[in-house]
Amino acid sequence: MPSASFGWTAHGTPLHDDGAVPAGRDGRLELADVGRLARRAARGLAGVARAEERETLSSLLHAHLAAPVEELDVVEEGRPAYEHVNVQAGLDGWLAADHRSHRLVGIVGYQHRQFGLAELLEGIGGVHDPYGPRPGNVSRVNLPSGPGGQVASCVRCGLYLVDDGGSPLAVLLRGADPESGLTTVTVEITGPHAPTVAAAAREIQELATTHNVFRGQVLSFDHEIFGHGGTLLQFHERPAVGNEDVILPAAAAEAIRRQVVEVARHKERLLSAGQHLKRGLLLYGPPGVGKTHTVRHLISSLTGTTVIQLTGGALSLISEACSVARALQPAMVVVEDVDLIAEDRDLHSGAHPLLFQLLGEMDGLAEDADVVFVLTTNRADLLEPALAARPGRVDQAVELPLPDGEARRRLFELYSGTLVLDRSHLDAVVDRTEGVTASFVKELLRRAALFAAERGSGDGDGGLAVSAEDLDAALCELLDTRNAMTRVVLGGAGNATRED
Ligand SMILES: Nc1ncnc2c1ncn2[C@@H]1O[C@H](COP(=O)(O)OP(=O)(O)OP(=O)(O)O)[C@@H](O)[C@H]1O
Ligand SMILES: [Mg+2]
Repeated sequence: MPSASFGWTAHGTPLHDDGAVPAGRDGRLELADVGRLARRAARGLAGVARAEERETLSSLLHAHLAAPVEELDVVEEGRPAYEHVNVQAGLDGWLAADHRSHRLVGIVGYQHRQFGLAELLEGIGGVHDPYGPRPGNVSRVNLPSGPGGQVASCVRCGLYLVDDGGSPLAVLLRGADPESGLTTVTVEITGPHAPTVAAAAREIQELATTHNVFRGQVLSFDHEIFGHGGTLLQFHERPAVGNEDVILPAAAAEAIRRQVVEVARHKERLLSAGQHLKRGLLLYGPPGVGKTHTVRHLISSLTGTTVIQLTGGALSLISEACSVARALQPAMVVVEDVDLIAEDRDLHSGAHPLLFQLLGEMDGLAEDADVVFVLTTNRADLLEPALAARPGRVDQAVELPLPDGEARRRLFELYSGTLVLDRSHLDAVVDRTEGVTASFVKELLRRAALFAAERGSGDGDGGLAVSAEDLDAALCELLDTRNAMTRVVLGGAGNATRED
């Protein structure tokens, strides 16, 4: 009876866990069961249909490409993880062409999964793999794209279904995912027309170079301290250190300028005259004489030049740094404190693997590459044997000496800045600072200014007035035997004398 059967259903008799429909008390199917069966069958059919209708990456790809899998070649390019921002710029530039349109399909469930277009075409992440890669929201990451915290939004993992002037293409972009062991950013392209696929790969690569956000920037390479030991690339503001801010012997300043700035300025003429542009400069001298300061001045002068700085700890990244420099000429590669790698000897062979790698990379660059290597050291003695063993990499070695009397006087002028300095004892102070470094003179003036401020000195002509006594007191303090350590760190140990 229909009413009874409805009542029975309304009792909420559960369906068996195994999906079997319970029979009536007497074991026969009742009319209610038939109704229920029919509803279940309908629900089941709808479920199958929904699963089949559900978009998967595979179904999207097949619908878009409309070609048998065996006719689809996949072209893949991988780049170091830090190039993600440039790959995205290249891809975006390529997609922006008037004759192209695209749909970006976000991918979720991609973490900890190794897959590419081939696997997606094969159907991974399909209806039977509900937690595998599947269409979803587009997830993005902001990556550094310039100094001062500039960032560019980049797709972590996405499928671009592209209409390339009537020819269908699919592009899979995937950023590095070190947790899954994926250390590169990859772009894969496929489509039914192989020449279109090849052209797309080439153009995206070219545009990644054209739109490269590293070009003309000041960058440093370092190892990631946290995370997965990847490469950390940082942007820096270009320093502003003018010619007048660097006090060096005229001959040294001229040699440096000629080697770095003048070669860059006359590169066309030098190249057409068959001369090479690639060059290496070694700045050596004791601590505090201005090696880093000079490097900053060179970076400041070469506006538009891509600068890549490597610190001692990141020298194993030298080949990556050189490949960026090669791609983004004119470029300058700075390796400060290069002696640190000279000490990194291979215990068995006694060689310096990293130093030789650096010299090898310098040698490997094409002669006409407009790349200048600037190396600094305060242990030239450690470097000498290695450089002598591989001549020709460093064209010019310039010694930055301790400042002589004339240089110290200029340093006093430079670092007195807006101070109103009583110069009546200056000759004596300059004499007594024989053997100190430039950074010592800078600190001396800072201390004298502090003494002046502490004793409540007034402002003369708009600046803090520093008396000859302030300067004497500051010098005495710095030369005091109790300040031996300060003197050592400032490079003032030499002949500087106390006068009391
Ligand atoms: N020749 C110089 N002219 C003007 N200022 C200088 C000069 N040398 C050093 N200074 C000042 O002293 C500071 C420290 O010098 P810098 O860091 O360049 O020394 P360095 O030679 O690189 O020493 P290290 O071997 O310890 O790296 C500079 O930031 C700058 O302010
Ligand atoms: Mg230095």
